[in-house]
Amino acid sequence: MQSCPTFARNWQELLVLAGIPRRYHDADQLLYSPPAGLEKLYQKVWEFLEDLPVQVAQGRGLLLKGNVGTSKTTVAVGVALQFLKLSCEPELLDLWAKPRSAPVLFVTMATLVENILSLKPSNPAEWARYEQRLRRVPLLILDDLGAEQPDDWIHAKLDALMAERYNNLRSTLITTNLSTDKLRDKYAERIIDRLRSCLQQLDFGGKSLRTPPLPVS
Ligand SMILES: Nc1ncnc2c1ncn2[C@@H]1O[C@H](COP(=O)(O)OP(=O)(O)O)[C@@H](O)[C@H]1O
Ligand SMILES: [Mg+2]
Repeated sequence: MQSCPTFARNWQELLVLAGIPRRYHDADQLLYSPPAGLEKLYQKVWEFLEDLPVQVAQGRGLLLKGNVGTSKTTVAVGVALQFLKLSCEPELLDLWAKPRSAPVLFVTMATLVENILSLKPSNPAEWARYEQRLRRVPLLILDDLGAEQPDDWIHAKLDALMAERYNNLRSTLITTNLSTDKLRDKYAERIIDRLRSCLQQLDFGGKSLRTPPLPVS
């Protein structure tokens, strides 16, 4: 097992600090085996990975769009895991120096909204720390944009977060099931415009890869 003594005692602990859900702990391995029909798209992901530290340092990210089950979250986490592994290499550590906090944070939009609504009023100090991390972490994964209930105040918060990350060249990977038109309907033009200028769009076509559970006999 890989170890990264600067951030955590071991790789598993680093994944927990980064908020990566267990289902996706080996997501980077799946980047080597694109599902049928997505070979070209995975090729683009590998091109992004080729100079990943530069992409992240310059605040460039990805917008992974497509139907449910087409491997968007897997690819986003796969990219983040590659970045985490690179971050453990001594020559890169100085770039993201903030020992004890992982240079990646994974959060679903639903959890983000829940934290804004519950953590903010119940524990303002904890929320302030969390918000700081959302704003500053070198690589943020915002999973399932659009799955949250429409709410002007939440969208204003999201706008502020994305503006801060955009202005400070922080990289973001966003997954969404929404089409470009639906994104436009849901979010203010300035959010869309910011996303467009710093995120490379990848369209995941095809059917869901999720296999149904085996029937109980
Ligand atoms: N490269 C791949 N090859 C085969 N199955 C994959 C691959 N990537 C992901 N999967 C599987 O497809 C399913 C959906 O992946 P997920 O990333 O959660 O999709 P989405 O985020 O688009 O809804 C999961 O069960 C996952 O394990
Ligand atoms: Mg997903």
